[in-house]
Amino acid sequence: MAKTYQIAVMPGDGTGPEVIDEGLKVLQAAQAKFGFKLETTHFDFGGERYMRTGETLPDSAVEELRRFDAIYLGAIGHPDVKPGILEKGILLKARFALDQYINLRPVKLYPGVETPLKGKGPEDIDFVVVRENSQDIYTGMGGLMHEGTPQEVATQTSVYTRFGVDRALKYAFELTRKRHAAVPWRGLSDKDKSEGKIGQLTLCGKTNVLTFIYGLWERAFHAMGPQYPDVKRDYTHVDATTMWFVKNPEWFDVIVTGNLFGDIITDLGAMIQGGMGVAAGGNINPDPGGVSMFEPIGGSAPKYTGLGVINPIAAICAGGLMLGTLGETAAATAVEEAVKYVIVNKLKSLAAGKMGYSTSQVGNLIAERL
Ligand code: IPM
Ligand code: MN
Repeated sequence: MAKTYQIAVMPGDGTGPEVIDEGLKVLQAAQAKFGFKLETTHFDFGGERYMRTGETLPDSAVEELRRFDAIYLGAIGHPDVKPGILEKGILLKARFALDQYINLRPVKLYPGVETPLKGKGPEDIDFVVVRENSQDIYTGMGGLMHEGTPQEVATQTSVYTRFGVDRALKYAFELTRKRHAAVPWRGLSDKDKSEGKIGQLTLCGKTNVLTFIYGLWERAFHAMGPQYPDVKRDYTHVDATTMWFVKNPEWFDVIVTGNLFGDIITDLGAMIQGGMGVAAGGNINPDPGGVSMFEPIGGSAPKYTGLGVINPIAAICAGGLMLGTLGETAAATAVEEAVKYVIVNKLKSLAAGKMGYSTSQVGNLIAERL
């Protein structure tokens, strides 16, 4: 009997619904071909609903979401809602309440995609950022005093526990190993290879200033490392990391970092892989029974809403990532191959309005190729 997955679909705001429609189109094509079944249930959480009802993501909805195999999210953010309300009330609430403690963001330049980096190609830009997704400065610890007066005080505290760091590191080490189960990583030296290394994990931190937080990360990293003798350990400061992303992206294989640094460096990562039109991510709870949530990372792009010009590839790739995480790896690979084919053979550009096709035509091309 075909395996059936229950998928909660949250199209959200702006161009979210348009790109999610295309993602679902491709997922449907994949299920027909690979013999599994997706049963989708739509939820309308987002800016419109908030303005109508005052509700962001209520606790009852979180409870409901726990029953699904995965969540497929479009975008959260509405121009008429004060920044922070929907982001914290929906996106961060889901991430925290469902303990999606990994934010997985592949940075991969597909053939035929233009990168702003001169002289770099697909063989140079292919790494994965494992962004810790449950702690750091995102926890909301801190506060305001004397708001709006000259004596105003604001604090926002970065929080990391050894438990939180260890579980993120474990995921990252395992991922590095899995990525290279068959093929040792291109950037390793002959010496590394002769020592049996197959992949490289870079800790991105700020051990020269954030000595408490990234001191903890560094200790935990090297304490865990010997369990993964096949993974070469590497370290870069976050500021230097942004520099190397531009200058030598080929140095990176898997990067693990805290929540805030991960947020920042993955926007840069998205740009070097060809822009927000292709950047996808997963908010992952890898624990047994954990519910993960997949999204294009570009946001709601209000100025393109309803025009049929937005690029749906990031959402389609997020769908592919979802299939891979559900265990449908052949289908996930096929989605990626279909995306690559359409990029190389059809699209003029990946930028909104410049693809040479409408949003839904791009979805059709990829679904048909599949
Ligand atoms: C992202 C976004 C979110 C984040 C915002 C919208 C809360 O920038 O997913 O990267 O900071 O995590
Ligand atoms: Mn971000």
